[in-house]
Amino acid sequence: MENLNPPLAEDLRRILIDEKAIAERVDALADEINRDYRNITDPLILVGVLKGSFIFMADLSRRLTIPHIVDFIAISSYGKQGDKRGEVRLLMDTRENLADHDVLIVEDILDSGNTLSYLISAFKARGTRSVSTAVFLDKPERHETEVPIEYKGFTIPDVWVVGYGLDYKEKHRTLPYVAEMIPQA
Ligand code: IMP
Ligand code: MG
Repeated sequence: MENLNPPLAEDLRRILIDEKAIAERVDALADEINRDYRNITDPLILVGVLKGSFIFMADLSRRLTIPHIVDFIAISSYGKQGDKRGEVRLLMDTRENLADHDVLIVEDILDSGNTLSYLISAFKARGTRSVSTAVFLDKPERHETEVPIEYKGFTIPDVWVVGYGLDYKEKHRTLPYVAEMIPQA
């Protein structure tokens, strides 16, 4: 019989989280968000951090039954993989004015924590009513800053992962699962 699963790319070591596990977890996170925000009157503003969050955002937002608005932000953090200066720069702001709104930041992965801690303080400074975070993956071994996560997908070890929005130099971003990369020489 024909094998319908394409082989794992040669630069990938193993699948860490498969499609089914992702779908079940995103369902559960959406249930929690629907419950926690069931009484809101103004729409919740979901702010996805580009590019890595776009698939998580698409799946999560489509499971929300509460009123919500989808928005995005783009930032660049200096010191990817290697040198770490912990600097974060805003490249593209949200379309929505966040003041007086409940905001949920949607992020692909919590690594050092610098990106999220910057965004949380920046959004609070805009007079938001509340700011919470939904993070698909968490690498606790890498944290430099403690950041509160209200909705967490999975905890993973300190390895470079790709798929479900996450990339390595723009590669493997649209794989339906999360895979561990073989470290590049
Ligand atoms: P921070 O260090 O928590 O500020 O995270 C910075 C960003 O690095 C994340 O939002 C991701 O875009 C990226 N990143 C960190 N670890 C990984 C990984 O394992 N795979 C792909 N991207 C990652
Ligand atoms: Mg990111």
